[in-house]
Amino acid sequence: MLADLALIGFGNVGRRFARLLDEQREQLQQKWDLTCRITGIATRRHGSSYNPDGIDAMAAATAVDAGGSLNGLDAVRSDARGQSNRHVIDQLARSPAPIRIVVETTTLDIAAGQPAIDHVRHALEATCDVVTANKGPAAFAYHELSSLARNQRRSFLFEGAVMDGVPIFNLVREAMPGVRILGFRGIVNSTTNHILTALEEGAAFGPALARMQEEGIAEADPSLDVDGWDAAAKTAALANVLLDARITPHDVEREGVGPGSATLAQIARKKGLRLRLVASAAAGAQPSVRLVELPADDPLAGLRGTSNALIFQTDMLGRVAVSQLDGGLTHTAYALLSDVIAIRRRLSSFV
Ligand SMILES: NC(=O)c1ccc[n+]([C@@H]2O[C@H](COP(=O)([O-])OP(=O)(O)OC[C@H]3O[C@@H](n4cnc5c(N)ncnc54)[C@H](OP(=O)(O)O)[C@@H]3O)[C@@H](O)[C@H]2O)c1
Repeated sequence: MLADLALIGFGNVGRRFARLLDEQREQLQQKWDLTCRITGIATRRHGSSYNPDGIDAMAAATAVDAGGSLNGLDAVRSDARGQSNRHVIDQLARSPAPIRIVVETTTLDIAAGQPAIDHVRHALEATCDVVTANKGPAAFAYHELSSLARNQRRSFLFEGAVMDGVPIFNLVREAMPGVRILGFRGIVNSTTNHILTALEEGAAFGPALARMQEEGIAEADPSLDVDGWDAAAKTAALANVLLDARITPHDVEREGVGPGSATLAQIARKKGLRLRLVASAAAGAQPSVRLVELPADDPLAGLRGTSNALIFQTDMLGRVAVSQLDGGLTHTAYALLSDVIAIRRRLSSFV
């Protein structure tokens, strides 16, 4: 079965996703009877391309890696001003392919989750499915967008928004039917966990952050990580989806990590404790992202570097912990791929 895809955003995650699709082409075909074809790509400063017969996505990724533009690639239409996100989505909607998916990976906007929310809304209104790694839509507009998706009989999936490729939303939805999530606490930001681990070992703040930027793990604006906004956006997304909350990241009490956290991290370590940035929410409690000194036997205390974990408090299963010991771009790209496969499975009896 053919799936046409339009990529809105073609940065670190978008390009890794395009390459992963290429690497997994044979397996997708054999195991899921799924052929993915990228027909549109839109960016902010690197142009955009649309070709109903498919874009050479590897050439596109190489061009953008080198700082070049998508304009003029094998495109039927391109737009140097990058104003054509809606056009690329509208073109996808006209595709005769049985599956049409908008893959949204633009930058996180912490003020209001835009323009990602508009991209998702427009795609659903145009009867495309949507997968995204952007936290904005679920953190600011989950209930509106999921109800629109239901009305349009389309999918709005965002597994990559929290803990990269490790299943969180899919796990609760697919593998824990009937279980009520009462609350959660966890470490959900890789950049600050890497920095805190480095600081407690005596390293400096600047180089620890620089490493996360080099690896493409830090947000394009790293203050979103270190000021706790990324973790607050994930907390809001988790609370909206799993606790049926109606909050935005601005409702989450928030702390961050800075050069001054070094002293605190080392004092904690001398006491046999670990300083970690802990996100938490529960029904009836204030959602928060706080620096907390954790005792050594807390399951979150042992998480080092880019590791993340979430512990859910549930009604029927007690506490359920999910951890991700290795984070990275491929994991986030896999989350998008897992959502694409989920859409394929919904169309047939695949299990
Ligand atoms: N990196 C990770 O490890 C990771 C993990 C989980 C989730 N995420 C999320 O995934 C998303 C993408 O992350 P990333 O690391 O790929 O970011 P990135 O490298 O900064 O790429 C962002 C992409 O979005 C494009 N873009 C921004 N605003 C746009 C607009 N208004 N219209 C069209 N395109 C626009 C950019 O175009 P230009 O380059 O031309 O400006 C770029 O192609 C973010 O929301 C992030 O929070 C990232």
